[in-house]
Amino acid sequence: MNLTVVGTGYVGLVSGACFAEMGNRVYCVDVDEKKISGLKQGKLPIYEPGLEPMVLRNYEEGRLQFTTQLAEAMTDSNIYFIAVGTPPGEDGSADLKYVQAVAREIGQLMTEYCVIVDKSTVPVGTADLVRETVNTELAKRNLQLDFDVVSNPEFLKEGAAIEDFMKPDRIVVGSDSEKARELMRQLYAPFNRNHERTMFMGVRDAEMTKYAANSMLATKISFINEISNLCELMGVDVENVRRGIGSDSRIGFSFIYPGCGYGGSCFPKDVQALIRMAQDVDFVPQLLLSVEQRNREQKKWFTRRLSERFGTDLSGLVFGVWGLSFKPGTDDMREAPAKTLLTDLISAGAKVLAYDPVAMETAERELPAEWFASGVLKLVANQYEALQGVDAMLLVTEWKPFRNPDLAAMGRSMKQKLIFDGRNQYDPDYIRAEGFDYFGVGRLADG
Ligand SMILES: NC(=O)c1ccc[n+]([C@@H]2O[C@H](COP(=O)([O-])OP(=O)(O)OC[C@H]3O[C@@H](n4cnc5c(N)ncnc54)[C@H](O)[C@@H]3O)[C@@H](O)[C@H]2O)c1
Repeated sequence: MNLTVVGTGYVGLVSGACFAEMGNRVYCVDVDEKKISGLKQGKLPIYEPGLEPMVLRNYEEGRLQFTTQLAEAMTDSNIYFIAVGTPPGEDGSADLKYVQAVAREIGQLMTEYCVIVDKSTVPVGTADLVRETVNTELAKRNLQLDFDVVSNPEFLKEGAAIEDFMKPDRIVVGSDSEKARELMRQLYAPFNRNHERTMFMGVRDAEMTKYAANSMLATKISFINEISNLCELMGVDVENVRRGIGSDSRIGFSFIYPGCGYGGSCFPKDVQALIRMAQDVDFVPQLLLSVEQRNREQKKWFTRRLSERFGTDLSGLVFGVWGLSFKPGTDDMREAPAKTLLTDLISAGAKVLAYDPVAMETAERELPAEWFASGVLKLVANQYEALQGVDAMLLVTEWKPFRNPDLAAMGRSMKQKLIFDGRNQYDPDYIRAEGFDYFGVGRLADG
């Protein structure tokens, strides 16, 4: 099949590459000329395990093409995926300006029946908005063309995006058109060989499913973080509680890791957007408001612990930060807890040495230039260099190389043997036996 994917970010590039891998011919379109010219030279704009060889292979074999011109892509295909960003607007609602821009362009260019697929995460009712936008453009051209708008939200996880796309738990397709459903059935057939994963439903049902899924996962995280706060105050080790509840098959072990808060391009914005959707229909989403508030406070976990230890003025102190991306396996720093931490450390007068296995370029690009210029933040070449003369090590992202570090080397480098473990990666007894002071999330302070 011939497809066009508009928006070549995490979702667009992964979807485009995976559809091409299944033998389809895919045009990936983006307005970002630098991104497209980089891709044409084999340079990927993001880090995602397994993505580079798949993109290069399909590009070389002619199944995957890149362009900044939607018109060029549209001559060949009649399925258009919209995979552009839907960032939070000022009031927290999803900003649909990029989605609408694509819908307008499709309406200006289409010449025959097509299926427009919303793959971006968009609020309930967006498919209707896309339909209206396209129809307005068609009317300007005095044209009446048949087309369908389908909701096909994406559930991939950064860091495991290829695996998730190739072997999804489910493929949600919202559509009331049999013609469109049939096209989607054909397109996704290769992903359903093992067993049928596609779930057809109404368009609005599909739109809500994506928000409900992310809000449920965010709720689990905020729930365990809430319990971890109680544990800290009540002399309980949350890690034992986590194991105790996770073993209940009704609860399960996933997404109940206590930590320094969730980040990323999805959970924070999607919870906020669902809150806005609820408020728009005069409903008070009490649970979601608390999930959001708990997470905002949890991102201050380091700041609270550090001020208990050092006071609120951190001048003259140096901290070593391990991990900058919002989670392991990605270079994405959108809404990363590390950003909150660095802001708090630097505004309290501290200096920081930081290291991340893949997010260093993102950090250089996204963190304030004055931090680098003034020397309050230095990005260093490896995890041990980030501990030279520091007053504490702060573990923010649980990358694998941080899991079993060389404690003797750490102890020799650090000015104070002190670890704040924002992801509960270490065994407190073992770390303390090596002469370190250790603080974990929701864990006993004195061993
Ligand atoms: N990142 C994830 O893990 C993930 C997972 C599931 C769903 N989503 C959703 O998918 C959508 C895309 O997210 P992302 O992380 O891939 O975003 P992204 O910011 O990585 O990529 C979006 C791309 O769209 C491009 N773009 C903007 N306007 C355009 C236009 N008019 N024409 C062509 N290209 C245009 C941008 O230049 C950018 O490259 C969002 O709605 C997001 O919530 C993301």
